Amino acid sequence: MTNTIAIGIQWGDEGKGKIVDLLAPDVDVVARFQGGPNAGHTLVLGDKKTVLNHIPSGILHEDTLCLIGNGTVVDPKRLVEEMDMLIEAGIPVTERLKISERCQLILPYHRSLDAAREVAKGKAKIGTTGKGIGPCYEDKTARRGIRLVDLTSDDLDERIDANLEYVNFMLVEYLKAAPVSRMEVDAMLDLARERLLPLAADVPLILQRRIKAGDSILYEGAQGSMLDVDHGTYPFVTSSNTVAGAALAGLGVGPGQVDAVLGICKAYTTRVGAGPFPTELYNAEGMECPSGKHMAEKGNEFGSTTGRPRRTGWFDGVVVQHAVRINGVTGLAITKMDVLDGLEEVKLCVAYELDGERLESVPACCKQLEAVEPVYETLPGWSENTFGATSMEQLPANARALLKRIEEVCDCPVTMLSTGPDRSHIIHL
Ligand code: IMP
Repeated sequence: MTNTIAIGIQWGDEGKGKIVDLLAPDVDVVARFQGGPNAGHTLVLGDKKTVLNHIPSGILHEDTLCLIGNGTVVDPKRLVEEMDMLIEAGIPVTERLKISERCQLILPYHRSLDAAREVAKGKAKIGTTGKGIGPCYEDKTARRGIRLVDLTSDDLDERIDANLEYVNFMLVEYLKAAPVSRMEVDAMLDLARERLLPLAADVPLILQRRIKAGDSILYEGAQGSMLDVDHGTYPFVTSSNTVAGAALAGLGVGPGQVDAVLGICKAYTTRVGAGPFPTELYNAEGMECPSGKHMAEKGNEFGSTTGRPRRTGWFDGVVVQHAVRINGVTGLAITKMDVLDGLEEVKLCVAYELDGERLESVPACCKQLEAVEPVYETLPGWSENTFGATSMEQLPANARALLKRIEEVCDCPVTMLSTGPDRSHIIHL
């Protein structure tokens, strides 16, 4: 196993949790580099389904060290809840987890601002997860954020006072929302001091030592490339860089310390929240195409963090090609292939058309992306069951033809194919 970055390359929810979970036993370290409690992956602990938001998927493996890098934003209350769920299930989290001392903390006022801003935006809202992600990253860039290491700083009180004065002015005067009390913030800071500070570490130092010792590292992304604040469908994006390059800045490693980039995408497309989605077929707002409904129902397309129904549509080869370029993807992991079983025909978007012109890359302007018409290739579907297939020979010829066409259109080999939720439902190519 080499040092690999594993990232989502659509609009998030590509099934990264399962792929990372599969790779984790073969690596020594799993490291998260961006995002926060807006991400979510479901784990089965005993007979109970559990959603983890911050903690890397590798936490279940005895010999795997899990790192939360400086590029992430951490909600102390939620992270402690996750730790406690795992501890209750007998997993010695504190022995396996380290948190960068440079991590930004999500404090109660970040959530309040996130919610109040969405309300104020009305119909133009982003559809955020409401976890305070945007306001926390804003504070980081504005240099008023509170990092884990700042909990030991003697000017913390002053900085919190200044932040609250500013935030409560915004909340009350401008957004007409309730103010946040100092008591609420202090309670969160106390919790972080008590439970998270003991896990604070110099993550770049740990990584350098591990890499020097020949250990293998899995860099785990959250969300997807189309939600990247620079390369995604701005402004309908998250507030961090989700692309492979962010792994370097978000953990403190160099480009020479990465060998491969695994781009994870579904065999179709989903999106939650607002924003352009050229190949969309189905959504909770009344778009009702039967193939999209098939994907939503068979794929159980509901957000793991918010429970919101996801919008669904055909595989968008323009989006995935764009992602292959901006991330330097070396191999594709295609998930949920089995969800397409039973469709009479399957479409693949290979280009866009805008005002009579053919576009082969994603326009930077959201209004233009909203106006494009997808150019589809239609391939015959299959009635056979691919659920749980473990070799290419078990796939019907039409499914294999779709994969081959995806490789050609996206200019990237498929190296993994997931055919069901279980760990064993995988084909390595
Ligand atoms: P935020 O990250 O909560 O600010 O939300 C910004 C946008 O990113 C919204 O459209 C969210 O639905 C979307 N988003 C954030 N995290 C995820 C994720 O893990 N999966 C899918 N969409 C996400």
